Amino acid sequence: MDLLKGKTAIITGASRGIGKAIALKFAENGANIAFTDLVYDENAQNLEKEIASYGVKVKGYASNAANFSDTQNTVNEIINEFGRVDILVNNAGITKDGALKRMTEEQWDMVLAVNLKSVFNFSKAIQPIMWKQGGGSIINMSSVVGVSGNANQANYAASKAGIIGFTKSIAQELGVRNIRCNAVAPGFIETEMTAQLPDEIKQGWINDIPLRRTGKPEDVANLCLFPASDLSSFISGQVIN
Ligand code: NAI
Repeated sequence: MDLLKGKTAIITGASRGIGKAIALKFAENGANIAFTDLVYDENAQNLEKEIASYGVKVKGYASNAANFSDTQNTVNEIINEFGRVDILVNNAGITKDGALKRMTEEQWDMVLAVNLKSVFNFSKAIQPIMWKQGGGSIINMSSVVGVSGNANQANYAASKAGIIGFTKSIAQELGVRNIRCNAVAPGFIETEMTAQLPDEIKQGWINDIPLRRTGKPEDVANLCLFPASDLSSFISGQVIN
């Protein structure tokens, strides 16, 4: 399939997990890929090679999405290299779980900065470019716990709920220039983020999932293809669980 042929996508936090699966799926569909992660390491190098095998342009960038000026610099570098950007996937995220009575200020601040401020940082840096182009699609990685809440994840759930408010707001602001913004709210996906969870917690999640199994990063990547492509050209401000 060539659903994204000729488009350029930025995906944050993409050296592994869901971001990596999205980068590969978009490349398979013909998109040029600029991806970021905290460090440019062996994972990033290997991903560059894998993406290049689809015959698209690719470059990995070391970039802290939680940092405003770092993000501005990264986006400038990407534009110098790729010339345009049609799709932004704000995927970078972390957890620092704990009950409210034990949660530290640092745990709160860090999760809000990496998960929520990063979405502001990248959307803010990309917005003038998409505005000038007269189009673009922004996809923000929320979570089902941003919709439902989750004990011991008040910081994470707040950041993911914040993403939904942000998404719906900028969808209203930017739609006039054909810029769309949607959020994806995955359930339980098997990645390094969820690998540490005890089996009984995992089983509890699985019992509540209609398909009685955990999701794979590819399941999320397949979904993201739709809001990224022109098939969704009349869809904005939505949250897909
Ligand atoms: P992961 O931990 O496997 O991957 C996250 C990536 O983000 C890592 O490569 C990490 O280095 C990078 N990252 C962390 N802080 C960063 C920063 N400041 N700047 C740039 N990159 C940074 O996690 P996973 O599971 O792939 O999660 C991806 C996104 O999906 C996150 O936003 C997460 O909250 C969200 N999500 C995950 C679910 C799951 O069950 N795994 C469910 C719902 C949402």
